[in-house]
Amino acid sequence: MKIIIGSDHGGFDLKEACKAHLEGLPQWEVTDAGVFNRDPADYPKVAHKVAQGVAKDEYQRGILICGTGLGMGIVANRYKGVRASVCHNLFTARLSRQHNDANILVMGGRVIGVGIALEMVDLFLKTPFDGGRHELRLNQID
Ligand code: RB5
Repeated sequence: MKIIIGSDHGGFDLKEACKAHLEGLPQWEVTDAGVFNRDPADYPKVAHKVAQGVAKDEYQRGILICGTGLGMGIVANRYKGVRASVCHNLFTARLSRQHNDANILVMGGRVIGVGIALEMVDLFLKTPFDGGRHELRLNQID
C-alpha cells in the first residue's frame, strides 16, 4: 500500500515526525511530496501534488499538514475522488474513516501535538469504512 505525505512550512516538523512513524510501518510505502525545510512555502502547491496522486489512485492514502489544516483541506477536496478530512483529535480521525471513508488525513501543525497526531495517523490507516448508510451518503456528494 502506498501513502503520500506533504506539508508547507507550518506543518513541516509534524510532517517529518509522521513520515518517520510511517517508515516504521512495514505495510506502507511512503512518498514525501515536500516541503523539505522550514522556508515559507505555498500550501496549495503541495496539496495539489498529494491530492492528484490520490485522485489518480497512485496512492491509496495521503496525509497533508499545514499550519491549521484548513488551506490544505480546501485544495485537496477540489479533486474528484478525494475525501480529505481535517481532523483535530482521535474521535474525528476515527470517524473520518468510519463515516466518510476519508482517503486524505489533514492536520494542523500549529494545532495539535506530535503524540496525538501519530495516534491519529494509526487510526486513519487501520480503521475501516462502515459502508451501509454512509456509502449511500457518499454517493450523494457528486
Ligand atoms: C501559513 O502561514 C498558513 O497560512 C498555512 O500553513 C495554513 O495554515 C493555511 O491554511
